[in-house]
Amino acid sequence: MSRHLAATSNEAIGKSCPAELDPERIPAHVAVIMDGNGRWAQARGLPRVMGHRAGVEALKATLRLCSDWGVKALTAYAFSTENWSRPGDEVNFLMALFERVLQRELQALEAEQVRIRFLGDLQALPEKLQGLIAEATERTAANQGIHFNVCTNYGGRRELVRAAQQLATRAAEGLLDPATIDENTLAAELFTAGEQDPDLLIRTSGERRISNFLLWQLAYAEIHVTEVFWPDFNRQALLEALLDYQSRNRRFGGVDALGADALGS
Ligand code: IPE
Ligand code: IPE
Ligand code: MG
Repeated sequence: MSRHLAATSNEAIGKSCPAELDPERIPAHVAVIMDGNGRWAQARGLPRVMGHRAGVEALKATLRLCSDWGVKALTAYAFSTENWSRPGDEVNFLMALFERVLQRELQALEAEQVRIRFLGDLQALPEKLQGLIAEATERTAANQGIHFNVCTNYGGRRELVRAAQQLATRAAEGLLDPATIDENTLAAELFTAGEQDPDLLIRTSGERRISNFLLWQLAYAEIHVTEVFWPDFNRQALLEALLDYQSRNRRFGGVDALGADALGS
């Protein structure tokens, strides 16, 4: 009873998960493909880049909600290795936006105990952004709160190629016996090393594809696609995604208890 009351009052101040959710089955790791910024802006007669600006607010709100509701890691797709093919003005706007947001938000991230990391080929990013990324990573490295991974110049295939190269180099140097390479050895070479695989993948804007995101890590993630454009992704949309997740029967290739009973085992 008192536990229930405590949960209710926590929810009243917005710091625990909504009553509709089972607090025991909150996904530990949520990955999100933040899509639809351009269409959100175009629907309002605004330039596409205004959608990216609005998308930052949605990301901040999502990070806070995930942290409050007990999600341990949030991995967001901010810029893919393929996004360089967009018009130069849009790419430049995005890089400048990443810099501004990092400068503006670093103190709050520190205060809220967020541990931020950037996953991807960071050397190809503008130097100023690289500096800000290094500073943010370092200043939040010891934080005990939610892990916030921002995939920037990230591509799943490139990540796997890089891992293969690193392993091959070690093997060629005689430091690694190829026969000992297993799934853990490979996973340890990925940008996500040390992070458990995502339980839930959310993609906004109705697109039903992976777009080169976390190809290895999403092997058994539950996929939730919403029609909502990313800048409109809010508490209600996140709640729907988590309710959808909690309605799933995760089998990981096995059979559930019901299926085993039906076979008389
Ligand atoms: C996602 O929104 C943000 C990035 C890829 C940087 P989009 O810019 O892809 O928006 P749409 O899909 O064109 O509407
Ligand atoms: C995926 O969205 C990349 C990010 C959200 C950063 P895109 O808009 O680039 O993907 P496609 O082109 O629809 O596959
Ligand atoms: Mg898109």
